[in-house]
Amino acid sequence: MTELKNDRFLRALARQPVDRTPVWMMRQAGRYLPEYRKIRNQAGDFMSLCKNTDLACEVALQPIDRFNFDAAILFSDILTIPDAMGLGLYFVEGEGPKFHKPLRTETDINDLNIVDTKRDLKYVTDAVSLIRRELNGRVPLIGFSGSPWTLATYMIEGQSSRDFPNIKMMLYKQPESLHQLLDKLALSVINYLNAQISSGAQAVQIFDTWGGVLSHDAYAEFSLAYMEKIVNGLVRHSEGRDVPVILFTKGGGQWLELLADTGCDGIGLDWTTDIGSARRRVGDRVALQGNMDPAVLRSDQSSIEYQVKSILQSYGTGVGHIFNLGHGITPDIDPNNVKAFVDAVHQYSQR
Ligand code: CP3
Repeated sequence: MTELKNDRFLRALARQPVDRTPVWMMRQAGRYLPEYRKIRNQAGDFMSLCKNTDLACEVALQPIDRFNFDAAILFSDILTIPDAMGLGLYFVEGEGPKFHKPLRTETDINDLNIVDTKRDLKYVTDAVSLIRRELNGRVPLIGFSGSPWTLATYMIEGQSSRDFPNIKMMLYKQPESLHQLLDKLALSVINYLNAQISSGAQAVQIFDTWGGVLSHDAYAEFSLAYMEKIVNGLVRHSEGRDVPVILFTKGGGQWLELLADTGCDGIGLDWTTDIGSARRRVGDRVALQGNMDPAVLRSDQSSIEYQVKSILQSYGTGVGHIFNLGHGITPDIDPNNVKAFVDAVHQYSQR
């Protein structure tokens, strides 16, 4: 196995000293890059791009070739699991993801099979292996999955949602059915992430994009508990190195202590939480990832530098910070501003 030339990201997650703060960006491979749009057109649509190993590898490497990111992320989607469970994922331009067969009844949930990644999602592990090979040790590769709760919102609503009427009705009216679904999803995610790890993923992140819409009690019972089950089911060591796990609940700033209690290695923060206070709350138990408002990238170089410096200052000196945005980059951003962002993190965090 080729040696890792830049292990800042893994060192920061292990809370070891680094020469400068590592940085990567959620959705770093995506529509803000003209070279991504070109390959996406060539593939025809987004899912065909995910399923084409060579093209998926190419777009995963585009941001690594263009900027000095300290980690690469698998190019895929969180909705591959529900697709493999037979729900029929498709994307409508400008409307986001949809399912041909969303879950409607208890029988629908009963009939679901747990995902066998090697059989049902080989295109994902093939992409992991190829990206890892093509990275050739430049930076580590992150694998990922959605959280059971976040996957369930799309499976039950059948599409993106603002108010989550159907899944919240089930949560309060038929909680056992929802627990059955979340349990099947947790087992599927464990299988999926372990397969990514055995194919070469060197860290994994769980995207709990919609955990923040839950009440305090419901969050612990319907989202956090299943992420904890996943953390406990993951292979945490591979190729002679620890494989860290990062949990990212958007809107989860009030639950950092609970997130740290799961035994994860890192917590992703959105921009509504002050990273310095977050650090004081979790102490030396976990690393923190984040957390610049993605909208800052719509400004200009000096405004970006100002915001980067202020987050670095708030975190303070010492170990355990991975710089990122508080959520994914949007398609309207000028790539030159991304360069300004990455360079500012490295410049102002130099030890
Ligand atoms: O970060 C990366 O660069 C890795 C790739 C990645 C994608 N999606 C590629 C993608 C990752 C990690 C995801 C995760 C994902 N997908 C999440 C969780 C993270 C988050 O943003 O909160 C969610 C909720 C999804 C579901 C999904 N997939 C949505 C809501 C959309 C946007 C639809 C739209 O039209 O805006 C997608 C599509 C998607 N996933 C794109 C990319 C690059 C854009 C698709 C395109 O090229 O048209």
